[in-house]
Amino acid sequence: MKEEIKSIIVKTPDDWHLHLRESPIIEKVLPYSYKSYGRAIIMPNLEIPIITFSQAKRYYEKIKYLIKTGNNFEPLMTLFLSEDTKVQDINEGVKSGIIKAIKFYPKGVTTNSSGGIKNLSKIYKLLEKIADFGIPLLIHGETSNTEIDIYDREAYFLEETVLGIRKNIPNLKIVLEHITTKESVDYVLESKKNVAATVTAHHLIINRNHIFDGGMRPHFYCRPIAKREEHRIAVRAAATSGNSKFFLGTDSAPHFDHNKENSCGCAGIFSSPNALGYVAQVFDEDSCINNLENFISINGAKFYNLPLNSSLTKFRKFKEAIKYPEKIKIGKNMITLFNPGYPLYWENDILP
Ligand code: NCD
Ligand code: ZN
Ligand code: ZN
Repeated sequence: MKEEIKSIIVKTPDDWHLHLRESPIIEKVLPYSYKSYGRAIIMPNLEIPIITFSQAKRYYEKIKYLIKTGNNFEPLMTLFLSEDTKVQDINEGVKSGIIKAIKFYPKGVTTNSSGGIKNLSKIYKLLEKIADFGIPLLIHGETSNTEIDIYDREAYFLEETVLGIRKNIPNLKIVLEHITTKESVDYVLESKKNVAATVTAHHLIINRNHIFDGGMRPHFYCRPIAKREEHRIAVRAAATSGNSKFFLGTDSAPHFDHNKENSCGCAGIFSSPNALGYVAQVFDEDSCINNLENFISINGAKFYNLPLNSSLTKFRKFKEAIKYPEKIKIGKNMITLFNPGYPLYWENDILP
């Protein structure tokens, strides 16, 4: 018998940033999300990005079909913003109740984002429309200008692009996704309204040194890249404070190992199986466990104007480390799980 040493019950959490991919990956990774979360914001950066409402609807139906009966999980769909996006797709999507946000990728900045935005002026009218619909714009906030130092690209983009959008369209709701810098934290804190940020489990834990600890560690490589320790501390302080503007988006982003352990390895960390456990552990370590529910179950839903989940989830801390696999297998291929290099003691279950 495992010895339980602490527990807390919270409303069932949501994941406000999730990559499920396509077959055969989706079949294997989706259960980790539907067993632990009430809802998740589903990222649209498939190999053929989800730009139109009919694409999103097809993907939504596929996800719903793959959810085993008895699990109450709702995929919250997003559209990939391109310079050719049609207002009609956003309109239909929002009216249907399926589309909950629009995703902004600077062109080429991350996985499958070559159809992203190059010329901001081409989409300004669309952004105004999105503001009218009242759904958030989810921003991958890094410049794709490779002349800017990779560790400065988030702060640079904030100044170069986000400030302007905010000034010109103040009623547009914005989520700065997977923030990694003190500048982003400060900006969100200073903003009066309509601005929030998601934070991943891994950015609470790793800094840029982990990526090069004793060698090059591709499974710690993601975008935005982890920054200096002082930035990690600022992001972690914001998340664990319980402040309503910060909420969990795991950014669980599975890639096959051979695509990460490669001369040009993909960006993305696969964390959906253990992200909640490590997040609870972080809050416990920082003596903030009472703020956990805000971060994982309340703040996001409120920002999106959605009801809180009605079910409850129990988090339990054990004396012995929780075992989790190093990798999952899909056909002949492997996907490595996020492993910060220290044991996990927290587990979570949705209560019946
Ligand atoms: C994500 C992916 O692989 O889809 N990768 C990542 O490093 N975070 C894309 C993204 O969220 O930027
Ligand atoms: Zn991103
Ligand atoms: Zn992502």
